[in-house]
Amino acid sequence: MDLYEYQARDLFEAHGVPVLPAAVMQDASEAAEAATRIGADSGGVVVVKAQVKVGGRGKAGGVKLARSPEEATQAANDILGLDIKGHTVGTVMIAQGAKIAEEYYFSILLDRSNRTLLAMCSKEGGMEIEQLAVERPDALARVAVDPLVGIDDAKAAEIVQQAGFDSDHDEIASALKKLWKVYQEEDATLVEVNPLVKTEDGQILALDGKVTLDENADFRHPEHADLVDEAAADPLEAKAKSKGLNYVKLDGNVGIIGNGAGLVMSTLDVVAYAGKDLGETDGVLATPANFLDIGGGASAQVMSDGLDVILGDEQVRSVFVNVFGGITSCDAVAEGIVAALEQLGDSATKPLVVRLDGNNVDEGRAILAKAAHPLVTLAETMDGGARAAAELAVNPNS
Ligand SMILES: Nc1ncnc2c1ncn2[C@@H]1O[C@H](COP(=O)(O)OP(=O)(O)O)[C@@H](O)[C@H]1O
Ligand SMILES: [Mg+2]
Repeated sequence: MDLYEYQARDLFEAHGVPVLPAAVMQDASEAAEAATRIGADSGGVVVVKAQVKVGGRGKAGGVKLARSPEEATQAANDILGLDIKGHTVGTVMIAQGAKIAEEYYFSILLDRSNRTLLAMCSKEGGMEIEQLAVERPDALARVAVDPLVGIDDAKAAEIVQQAGFDSDHDEIASALKKLWKVYQEEDATLVEVNPLVKTEDGQILALDGKVTLDENADFRHPEHADLVDEAAADPLEAKAKSKGLNYVKLDGNVGIIGNGAGLVMSTLDVVAYAGKDLGETDGVLATPANFLDIGGGASAQVMSDGLDVILGDEQVRSVFVNVFGGITSCDAVAEGIVAALEQLGDSATKPLVVRLDGNNVDEGRAILAKAAHPLVTLAETMDGGARAAAELAVNPNS
């Protein structure tokens, strides 16, 4: 789960990382009061910042300096509602203005390909960091971090040295060690600070923060549930989650149900291939509408919940159910489909192509043939099923 900057800031603060006072709001009418309070120690200067889960807010006009409560209100008005790379700003943070002397970059992340953690650090941070990483990779120190050791005194000193800082070694090292605590104690997979700044009076501060938390560790952090932005979640994904389904919404029109993540992934591929092969009809191209793995226990309830979520997707025009019976036999899946269609009744309106194979396939097919539901077509093969579902998506009368 990615956090908003203000949430990252709060986690930083809780772990002793130096940050600036700030307030969060959804309404510009609160800006003047917050700016007066927060700007009291910075000559009235505050920064109004869009809270969206995407980088490059500064360049997109989502970060504005304000020198008075009136300017802060104006900036909040300008930024609220702004579209930044497809994200509409609904919340702004007003932070104390810093007198920046230097901008640095620091991040720690999970380096999957090297099976370790990686710290990256540069004394040339700020809004051009992506360009720096491409054009002058040497200016970005990359230091492997053993997850069992973390960033201790020695590792922090190594990072500071590799990044080539000329001064403030101890202060920067201290900030890095605290950021490591955020990474480890919160079970993050990414902690990025850009910029980490040195102010004119020599303080080291985290001015922007990006944190990704590892959802697999949620069981250790009941408090992280409060960080979930329910309003921003896709409603279908939220519904699927509440029913315990492994569902990911995609952009296409062929709903997909399968058992086992590998089979579902390859089902997405064959549907995409079939769609491409058929080409567009009246501007419609058949592509997968979702990933849904019903797993091992494909009971009628799971099938019904899955179909309910998929049919709730307005973009869906057909559904491909691709099941390879193993522990869950095909007859159980077939009964699940029949029962699900009964449960859904009139709300099931889109054609279903069902391909069953594996354990008890004949019994499974017999059950579906006997039920003879008008929306269900049986397919012999995975490719054939994908093609039939793709055809139904582009041409409902096919
Ligand atoms: N509190 C602050 N005081 C002064 N300048 C700031 C403050 N916060 C951000 N800035 C400036 O704005 C730039 C962009 O802000 P940042 O929070 O990094 O957003 P983004 O990375 O999304 O562009 C920073 O590089 C910094 O120069
Ligand atoms: Mg930034």
